[in-house]
Amino acid sequence: MSLTQPDAVDRLGITTPIFGFSHCRDVVAAVSKAGGLGVYGAGLHSDAQIAIDIEWIEAQLDGKPYGIDLLMPSKYVGSESGGLTAAQARAAIPADVTHFLDDMMLRYDVPEDEAAAPDSDDEFIASGSQRYTAKQQEGILEIAFAHSPRLLVSALGTPPRDVIERAHAKGMLVAALAGRVKHAVRHVEAGVDIVIAQSYEAGGHTGEIGGMVLTPLVVDAVAPVPVLAAGGIGDGRQMAAALVLGARGVWCGSVWLPTAESDLLPVVKQRLVDAHAEDTQRTRAMTGKPSRLLRTAWVDEWERSDTPDPLPNPIHAVAIGPYVARIEKAAAGPDATPDHGPGALAPTAAGQVVGLITAQTSCRRVLTDMMEGCIDAIAETQALLERGS
Ligand SMILES: Cc1cc2nc3c(=O)[nH]c(=O)nc-3n(C[C@H](O)[C@H](O)[C@H](O)COP(=O)(O)O)c2cc1C
Repeated sequence: MSLTQPDAVDRLGITTPIFGFSHCRDVVAAVSKAGGLGVYGAGLHSDAQIAIDIEWIEAQLDGKPYGIDLLMPSKYVGSESGGLTAAQARAAIPADVTHFLDDMMLRYDVPEDEAAAPDSDDEFIASGSQRYTAKQQEGILEIAFAHSPRLLVSALGTPPRDVIERAHAKGMLVAALAGRVKHAVRHVEAGVDIVIAQSYEAGGHTGEIGGMVLTPLVVDAVAPVPVLAAGGIGDGRQMAAALVLGARGVWCGSVWLPTAESDLLPVVKQRLVDAHAEDTQRTRAMTGKPSRLLRTAWVDEWERSDTPDPLPNPIHAVAIGPYVARIEKAAAGPDATPDHGPGALAPTAAGQVVGLITAQTSCRRVLTDMMEGCIDAIAETQALLERGS
């Protein structure tokens, strides 16, 4: 690895190599304003909301760089035929799963809500479900290409070559997440500029290899393409370790969840701050694919041996979408508590780094503390080594 040659990360024009992934536009803007790169997770929002949020982010940033992250899974049920329609996905939900979900709502006092029973594709997405047709993915891409993100990120697979070429023609850089070396190599062969090595500890969709092993493996496999380390990074010592392992920067998701800017429910923010490192679980309970969630009653319910198994992606997301919307609406109330009712169920992705998060601060504070802590950790390590020599 050469640290003297400018690389794709330099071309992003950021002052701090900290990348902040969030579905919340306020977090994205705050991270970019503080000198990092905020990356807007588009996957859970409707096209209309994405367009509004991106306009808002660009207005806040006044030319400062930001990124957009899209769910582009290479394989999902129905992908051979271009994806499922909403009606096909709904028809594939078994009766025992619907019964289990209805019963769960009763047991946790989650009220009925007509508004949370969408019937169009777009409403399904807005209700916290996922995009599950190629056509829906195309919609977000068009919005992204009509704006000026510096970075386009593929969350779940190698981006199609034509997407990479279009992005490059517009002056955007392209990154993709990888949980295994072979995925990272495939991304680079397709023309990706930056690889994000997403380790086992991470919140959200995650593989099975820990960051201490995955980061240097990916760095070696794709050199000279720069690598960002993702998963389990929340303070300056962890950032320093990632850089020493050869990463060009760090990509974080969980640390922003309890910040003042985050739109997460207060009851969930409190739960995250109180959580220990062992309070997350890699489970199929949210999307049908293994992803790391905070261990709330939602996870426990799906993991019980006497309840149905999660469905394949994306049918699982379609099945749970309206129920998660109901839970979140009910858990937003002033009386919600993490101990019972909707507040006990409210699900969120979160990584093992929650064990290090002990306070609700601001995005700028997280970023500044991480950068200063990283510089201190490297200086202390250097001093330690010099003492021994
Ligand atoms: C609540 C949450 C939602 C996430 N959703 C996505 C997503 O839609 N797309 C994506 O590329 N990564 C997603 N991730 C993963 C993050 O991009 C990031 O790789 C991960 O959070 C890094 O590990 P950390 O949680 O230990 O910081 C999500 C993470 C969290 C915590």
